[in-house]
Amino acid sequence: MTGDQQYWTSRPEVGSRPDQVTLLLPDLEVSLETDSGVFSGARIDRGTRFLLMKGPQPTEGAAELLDLGCGYGPIACALAARSPRSRVWAVDVNERALDLCRSNAASAGLDNVVVTTPDDIPDDVTFNAIWSNPPIRIGKEALHDLLSTWLDRLAPGGTAHLVVQRHLGSDSLARWLTDEGWATQRRASRKGFRLLDVAARLVTPTDRGQP
Ligand SMILES: C[S@@+](CC[C@H](N)C(=O)[O-])C[C@H]1O[C@@H](n2cnc3c(N)ncnc32)[C@H](O)[C@@H]1O
Repeated sequence: MTGDQQYWTSRPEVGSRPDQVTLLLPDLEVSLETDSGVFSGARIDRGTRFLLMKGPQPTEGAAELLDLGCGYGPIACALAARSPRSRVWAVDVNERALDLCRSNAASAGLDNVVVTTPDDIPDDVTFNAIWSNPPIRIGKEALHDLLSTWLDRLAPGGTAHLVVQRHLGSDSLARWLTDEGWATQRRASRKGFRLLDVAARLVTPTDRGQP
C-alpha cells in the first residue's frame, strides 16, 4: 500500500488481499499475516525494523508496555516475545489491523498481548514504556494530540521510543516534544530514520496541587 492511501481508517475500503511476512531479528523470528489496507503489508517497514534493532531490550520484569499504532503487530509481538512477563497493549484504529495483530499474537503463542482500540484501554492503566512507529501522515496537529494523550500516560520514569523519518519531520517533532516538557533525545540515526527516546514529563509539586 502506498503512503497516500489511508491505512489509518477504521474500516479500509480496499478489498482483502492476505499476505504473509517474516519478522526476522537477531533474537527472534515471527511469521505475521498481513493484508491490503494496513500499513506496510508487503514487508516489515524499515523504520519498524530499525526501532526493533536499535531500541533498548524491554525489561525482563513485569511491566505495562504500549505499542501505539500496532498495525498487524510486528512491534507488539517482538515486545511480547522479548518481555514475556510484561503485558503489551497493542492499539490501533484500523479494525483490519487489529484483527491481524490479534491472530498474529495468538499464532505466535504470545498470550501477553492485549489488542484493543484506544478507547478500550482502562483509564487507570499507565505504561512503563511506549513503543511506536507513529502515524505521522495523519497530520501534525492530530499527531501532536495523539502523542500528548499517550505520553501523559507514561508512568513516572517511563520512556517512549519513537521511530520517525527525518524527511517527515523527526527533528521538529523532537523539538516540539522537548518544548512541551517531554525531554527527548536521539538514541540512534540511520538512513533517514531517527530513533527518539522521550521521557515522561516531570510532575512538579504544583502539578500535584501542593504549594
Ligand atoms: C506507521 S504505522 C505503524 C504500524 C505498525 N506498528 C508497524 O510498525 O508496522 C502507524 C499505525 O498507527 C495507526 N493509527 C493511526 N491513528 C491512530 C490513532 N489515533 N490511535 C492509534 N493508532 C492509530 C495506523 O492505523 C497505523 O496502523
